[in-house]
Amino acid sequence: EKGGYEHFMLKEIHEQPRSIANCMRGRIYADEARINLGGISEYAVKLAQAKRIIIVSCGTSWHAGLVGEYLIEEYARIPVEVEYASEFRYRNPIISEEDVVIAISQSGETADTMAAIELAKKAGATILGICNVVGSSIPRLSHAGMYTHAGPEIGVASTKAFTAQVTALTLLSLYIARQRGTLPASKIATLLAQLQKTPQLIKECLKNEPLVKQIAYEIKDSTNCLFLGRGINFPVALEGALKLKEISYIHAEGYPAAEMKHGPIALIDEQMPVVVIATKDSSYDKIISNIQEVKARKGKITAIVTEGDTIISEIADYIIEIPLCEEALTPILATIPLQLLSYHIAVMRGCNVDQPRNLAKSVTVE
Ligand code: M6R
Repeated sequence: EKGGYEHFMLKEIHEQPRSIANCMRGRIYADEARINLGGISEYAVKLAQAKRIIIVSCGTSWHAGLVGEYLIEEYARIPVEVEYASEFRYRNPIISEEDVVIAISQSGETADTMAAIELAKKAGATILGICNVVGSSIPRLSHAGMYTHAGPEIGVASTKAFTAQVTALTLLSLYIARQRGTLPASKIATLLAQLQKTPQLIKECLKNEPLVKQIAYEIKDSTNCLFLGRGINFPVALEGALKLKEISYIHAEGYPAAEMKHGPIALIDEQMPVVVIATKDSSYDKIISNIQEVKARKGKITAIVTEGDTIISEIADYIIEIPLCEEALTPILATIPLQLLSYHIAVMRGCNVDQPRNLAKSVTVE
């Protein structure tokens, strides 16, 4: 049932070219710059006219929400707030009938996320669910939604569900942009055509596994690890850190790279591995300065870079390349090596990768 892989997590990492393709199937008409989201069409106008979008979720799904915030604000120009469902539900939040609340959940059963949407529903908001498990509770509680179609995810550490959530949010952001006319059709067409290439690009990323394994060997005995990213790749840094801590039990933190100098930089010495997402995007020059700041304090740098990068390879201790792509798609690709890195570190440390201690696949208690 593990399809020849040693663990479900590894199988699920390698399934991503297919799970992403399944998430997009039947939804993209690139030539017409059109996206078909059957489960949302009834609410398309409501969505396009929303004053505000609030995303509620937990854990990895919350990280996907942060990528979604970036995409929806950039393309659809609607203000987005991303909330931990557990905080939102206990805060007496201000919600109106003009708000759209998006609940993101792999399992569709997370107690806090369910309570958050029940609260928002009572206040008159429109609820949209982005879930993986078909027929689960959150889709049933939602007015509309889209399934991520990543297939069953068995490993407790979420992998293919995350990249499918980000794919779904990319589609949704372009769908709203199309309705609102906030992005030229030609740009939407280009992005959709690129998105359709991601399964192939993920295959390229997976080819780096032997290299990632070597880097894992260098990091495996560390007690701490820092993950840095900027802009749309900041949530990827958070996700990289969460993956590492939950399966390898190494303490890890994700930070926006520019926040480093406001505290975490004090932690950096030759014992500290620092993983930086440093792809050629709008933050590239800034992230190079951040890498130099780490280097000056002798941190051990692993950089995720765009194929052919010659500048960062001079500074970083290790580099892992991902193919050149539109900035909006870098989170999906940059996540792949981070998943492999955590996986191999955890295996080398003898950890129970698929069922880490103290964790359950779906958190149905608050
Ligand atoms: O099923 P959900 O997406 O609602 O679950 C949310 C979190 O419990 C989940 O993402 C958790 O953080 C994972 N173990 C992360 O790998």
